[in-house]
Amino acid sequence: MTLSTLHRARVVVFVSGSGTLLQALLDAAATDDYPADIVAVVADRDGIEGLARAERAGVPTHVVKLRDHADRAAWDQALADLVETLRPDLIVLAGFMKLLGDPFMDRFGDRVINSHPALSPAFPGAHAVRDALAYGVRVTGCTVFLVDRGVDTGPILVQEAVPVDVDDDEAVLHERIKKVERRLLVDVVARLAREGWTLHGRKVSIP
Ligand code: GAR
Repeated sequence: MTLSTLHRARVVVFVSGSGTLLQALLDAAATDDYPADIVAVVADRDGIEGLARAERAGVPTHVVKLRDHADRAAWDQALADLVETLRPDLIVLAGFMKLLGDPFMDRFGDRVINSHPALSPAFPGAHAVRDALAYGVRVTGCTVFLVDRGVDTGPILVQEAVPVDVDDDEAVLHERIKKVERRLLVDVVARLAREGWTLHGRKVSIP
């Protein structure tokens, strides 16, 4: 995938929660030398801090709720129809807690990235930090990957390890991981925007 180098990449960010990863991207995109703009933020629910962060930054927001649609496929199609109008070069899932189904992936499956708070393939799913603590691992971390149709199974772009302390609870460990996630995500979005990427099987290279 080669993104145009003639303009800053158009990035759409999907959120479901507090949006601290989104904030890191908004802060980076506010600088002149960052190669991407956050052109819209999409959420699956309202009343979340992630949407408030976008509004404070002057970024348009859209809420597409599953319960407002007849079924999952209709919700996916509504998301795809909306995102089509936003013309994204890259879609970043930043704490978006729903899986994207075929109607969305058929259209945008070549340009979606996600950040996961564990070292994939360990601890996929919505409770990665809790699951890592319950397992008793001494090292966990985070993974930024290209989204495929599985649960946190896509080709890995970047990973970094984070130590687990014996007295960590879920909130403390998650915040330690998120500090790393924010840096990795800002960095990898910039690299993808500047250089594009090539996929060979599960191996991603950023030239
Ligand atoms: C991040 O840790 C992100 O990896 C995780 O949600 C958090 C969002 O934090 N996503 C998942 O677990 C998806 N499987 P934020 O709302 O503060 O940006």
